[in-house]
Amino acid sequence: MAIPLIIDTDPGVDDAFAIALAARSPEVKLVGLTTVFGNVGLEHTTRNAQRLLAHLGRTDVPVVKGAEGPGGASDVHGEDGLGGQAHTLPESDKGLHGEDVTKFFADNLTPDTVVAAIGPLTNIAAALDGGITFPRLIVMGGGLGIGNMTLRAEFNFWADPEAAQVVIRKGNPIIVPLNLTQRCIADTEFLANVDPVLSNLTGTYREYLARHSEQNFSEREEGILVHDAVAVAEAIVPGTLKTRTHLLDIDDEGALVEGKYQVEVAEDTDWPALMSFMAQRLSG
Ligand code: RIB
Ligand code: CA
Repeated sequence: MAIPLIIDTDPGVDDAFAIALAARSPEVKLVGLTTVFGNVGLEHTTRNAQRLLAHLGRTDVPVVKGAEGPGGASDVHGEDGLGGQAHTLPESDKGLHGEDVTKFFADNLTPDTVVAAIGPLTNIAAALDGGITFPRLIVMGGGLGIGNMTLRAEFNFWADPEAAQVVIRKGNPIIVPLNLTQRCIADTEFLANVDPVLSNLTGTYREYLARHSEQNFSEREEGILVHDAVAVAEAIVPGTLKTRTHLLDIDDEGALVEGKYQVEVAEDTDWPALMSFMAQRLSG
């Protein structure tokens, strides 16, 4: 029986790989995409979600437009959120789902539904405050002692720290943090062998990573960090990520700090094996 999966997303290049991985994995039934501002503004993230599903032949999957907010990572993902290549994806002939996100969750969550939140947590927090309970919530975000927006805060939590606080305090999330995902570089060989339409989205991101890694690391990294696909892989094959229990909270900057909320944190995975799994699912 396929696992029902809803992805809350701000596509976003690594979101695109995560969505494609889910769409091409029979282990999950993609119930819907709920969109949120993040990498770029909501209009772009929503249209990108529609276009990605059209490209994947999955316009059967509803797209539910969620919370607006300021785009904040166009330097990584391009002004359109997909490396300036969103126009290379087909327009969708499917309109948006008419309900709001909380109503969509209320109408579609079942006891075995997994929700993967791979953007700022505004929609998820609103649903929790609206009385929604998530049976299994996997969140890409946060960093233990590290960040990619500040020294301590990761983008998804930094973009809406109040929402992140609601989610860690009420949502019982499995957190997939930067500590793990920044080790998951989809390299040039991987990108050369996946769907060329997806690979074509990665130019801006690759240039950013190469430039950024030269500044921060001893060697130049070539490829992209597939943060979101790592989190979604856990929804597809439970147990892909090795987790440990922590007592944490989130401060007003969006940084993960020691606290009183018990959460599972993904600490390790067999990245070569996971990259091979993704390459097989996303082959051109
Ligand atoms: O910090 C990485 C996260 O921020 C990923 O979800 C990426 O898509 C961006 O949204
Ligand atoms: Ca994202």
